[in-house]
Amino acid sequence: MTCVVIVGCQWGDEGKGKIVDLLTEHADIVARFQGGNNAGHTVVFDNRTYILHLIPSGIFRKGKLAVLGNGVVVDPIALLEEIDGLQAKGVTVGDNLRISDEANLIMPYHKAMDKLRETLKGAGKIGTTGRGIGPAYEDKMARGGVRFSDFRGNGRKDLCGRLKSIIEEKNVLMRSHFHTDAFFDVGEIYDQYAALYQRIMPYLCDTSVLLNEAIDAGKAVLFEGAQGTHLDVDHGTYPYVTSSSTLAGGACTGCGVGPTKITDVIGVAKAYTTRVGEGPFPTELTGQAVGELLQKRGQEIGATTGRVRRCGWFDVPLVREAVRLNGMTGLAITKLDVLDTLEHIEIAVGYRDREGEILTSMPHHAGAAAELVPEYEELAGWESSTRGLTKLSALPKAARRYLDRISELTGAPVVLISTGPSREETIVVESVF
Ligand code: IMP
Repeated sequence: MTCVVIVGCQWGDEGKGKIVDLLTEHADIVARFQGGNNAGHTVVFDNRTYILHLIPSGIFRKGKLAVLGNGVVVDPIALLEEIDGLQAKGVTVGDNLRISDEANLIMPYHKAMDKLRETLKGAGKIGTTGRGIGPAYEDKMARGGVRFSDFRGNGRKDLCGRLKSIIEEKNVLMRSHFHTDAFFDVGEIYDQYAALYQRIMPYLCDTSVLLNEAIDAGKAVLFEGAQGTHLDVDHGTYPYVTSSSTLAGGACTGCGVGPTKITDVIGVAKAYTTRVGEGPFPTELTGQAVGELLQKRGQEIGATTGRVRRCGWFDVPLVREAVRLNGMTGLAITKLDVLDTLEHIEIAVGYRDREGEILTSMPHHAGAAAELVPEYEELAGWESSTRGLTKLSALPKAARRYLDRISELTGAPVVLISTGPSREETIVVESVF
């Protein structure tokens, strides 16, 4: 039995898509357990670049099953667009995709509320992706969510009644709180979603049963996390977080698989740090030459929203906390080659707070975290190309030293090193499967 969870160690965009795609070779099933189409996973192979927002990257490999678990919030319109887009590019999407019929749906009012709320917040906005993720999870937790299974058989009658009261409440909110005349029509939404359900129905099943039976039969499962540890709704830089459990533990609740089935947790961390959206970022270098260099060399532009990512030095306490929160058994360090031209590289090993006290972990409260000044350790750069290297022995000494130091300070071994965007541009230090 091998069940590996892949999660991000920072604020998302760590390059999980590539690592998952790479490890899929050894897995039978790739399952997503949280988030929705706020994610943007870039996969490069055969000189083509694919960006996936919902469907697990396992979809590209023949003979593998891609699963969307119950913890994912699904925008059926975005899902069908993604399926159609992949099929148009010649990618098979059929029996190789299974979606939980208990996954909650992103409804039109969720998308509207996400955007209106951000506008109302003004300078205090979260900087969401505007995909309706937060409002959809709110309704799920408030027991006002709509699931695929609601459209099945007799459930439809109940759904009509529930949908009426849910939408009436949204329409009141639209007028009284958001001050818009946006109006959602119950019949129209029901008909639209019932038609979407018909198209998605062939992919639906009880994915918890499917996954557990596969695990019991000795199949290898890869759980693909979206966003990152510090965007987790419980443990992230609250309130500048997403609305789901992005940690490895989320794989269990988000797929209906018990914790005793998980065998490994691999954390993906960029060789530096990036963040999109608002929120604290102590090692941020925006507006500085090094920050711009990282942004340009790393092509740090959001795969979902096209926003330029904020860039900064590697932050040890951030990743060390991710190792602890996720029980990580190994780290995959991505985009090492982006640092190739630097003479010196800094890594934050702690912070100084406003009283001048040294902290070795970041406070969770966003206000306190925003005031931190990082304490850096300087390491020599390697000033030579690591692009495309596939052997550890080929890495320059200073690059090895950099990775060793990250491993020493975070407490997790580096098992994979990514030296370029494509599958082949990877150093496998230790095999994960
Ligand atoms: P939401 O998930 O759209 O509600 O956005 C909440 C926060 O999470 C914002 O700061 C987003 O920029 C961030 N976020 C959401 N999804 C991703 C992702 O896939 N990568 C990086 N940041 C993300």
